[in-house]
Amino acid sequence: MQRRIAPAARISGVVRLPGDKSISHRYAMLAALADGTSRIAGYSSGADCASTLGALEAMGVPIERAAGQVVIHGRGLEGLSVPEATIDAGNSGSTIRMLSGIAAGHPFLTRITGDHSLVRRPMDRIIRPLEQMGASIRAREGRYPPLEIHGARLRPIEYTLPVPSAQVKTCVLFAGLFADGVTTVHEPVRTRDHTEIALREFGAEIEVSGNKISLRGRPRLTPRDLRVPGDLSSAAFLIAAALLVPGSELTLEGVGLNPTRSALLDFLAAQGADLRILRVEQEAGELWGDVHVRHSRLRGGCVQGALTAALIDEIPILAVLGAASERGLEVRDAAELRIKESDRIATLAENLTRLGVEIQVAPDGFRVSGRQRFRAAVLDSFGDHRIAMSCAVAALAADGECILEGFEAAAVSFPEFFDLLGTIAAQPGKNKNLRP
Ligand code: S3P
Repeated sequence: MQRRIAPAARISGVVRLPGDKSISHRYAMLAALADGTSRIAGYSSGADCASTLGALEAMGVPIERAAGQVVIHGRGLEGLSVPEATIDAGNSGSTIRMLSGIAAGHPFLTRITGDHSLVRRPMDRIIRPLEQMGASIRAREGRYPPLEIHGARLRPIEYTLPVPSAQVKTCVLFAGLFADGVTTVHEPVRTRDHTEIALREFGAEIEVSGNKISLRGRPRLTPRDLRVPGDLSSAAFLIAAALLVPGSELTLEGVGLNPTRSALLDFLAAQGADLRILRVEQEAGELWGDVHVRHSRLRGGCVQGALTAALIDEIPILAVLGAASERGLEVRDAAELRIKESDRIATLAENLTRLGVEIQVAPDGFRVSGRQRFRAAVLDSFGDHRIAMSCAVAALAADGECILEGFEAAAVSFPEFFDLLGTIAAQPGKNKNLRP
């Protein structure tokens, strides 16, 4: 589906974001394994997190969706039941990779697949450790969905992640819940730690020392009532819109500010972004706060090494900001971008080129020079939510109306995105905020 996006004269307002996608998946899965009923307020409205709820229901977990919260009636650690049909994880890498760890601990056959993008994403990264733990898994060409997971009595392992991946870390730790003894994961660089925090909240025994995480298996998980903070990765698009469009001033309330996720704010601030964090509080181990942002001319910079892993979901929108910055943006060590919901280096380069922006592409990154202007163009999400939203933000700063093909992909993580943009984006020549 197509959507027209007009340039914006200004971005302004006070907004709340949908619940964090990463935290929502983890709370739902752990609540399903707890002994009793958990209530999760602010659960992500994105299609990915709905895929997780659907998958858990398919494994016998009763779930109620009420306004603003989901109620999950946990079945206990080995209480899930045989799914009658193949589970559809939709577009969600988190659902298939994390749930596979749980399925591996249940002594029956679970089949999981997904949409045309997910069935092209590599799963050997979870198959290897889960097989070491004793599960047996069949996959298309040994590495792609559909997966057939034959669960078993699992043994604990000590596992070093070959690539930094919070999804793989979570998969191994979730499988470790079912193993007798201590499962240990070593990370090459620290990735988001929502799993470690959530496991502790649900009563598991977990120890973190540097990049080493150890979990004692077979805990009794206790149900919890929890609130999910706003998604900083979704906020990134609105923050970028406000930074990009002159005269903008925006407040985002109740955003998750977990230090393993907030590298974006530090990176932008170091480049000269006018960002303020207000009212920081902690709840259930996660930091929350309000983010206030004003239009700023960014200097530009380089993203590489551990910073690339910390900013991996934000790189598409940083590329848009980079093209408008003083010195541009260089991204290295980002080969993982090629196996996300789309090949994000290719889909980003295609859209920036259509906008008249010069970009040099490398196997593991790209470079965009600064001070570039965006020309009105027909853009394409290529079915990728973060590409859809990055294109929409670039369009706000274009020299005319853009058309975005496949805008609906945004619903994977942020279904409210375009409506929200309509309430905060003022069009040139009009003093009221209008929908783009
Ligand atoms: C996520 C981890 C990251 C990220 C994804 C969500 C998570 O993926 O890109 O959007 O919730 O653990 P990888 O683990 O593949 O890096």
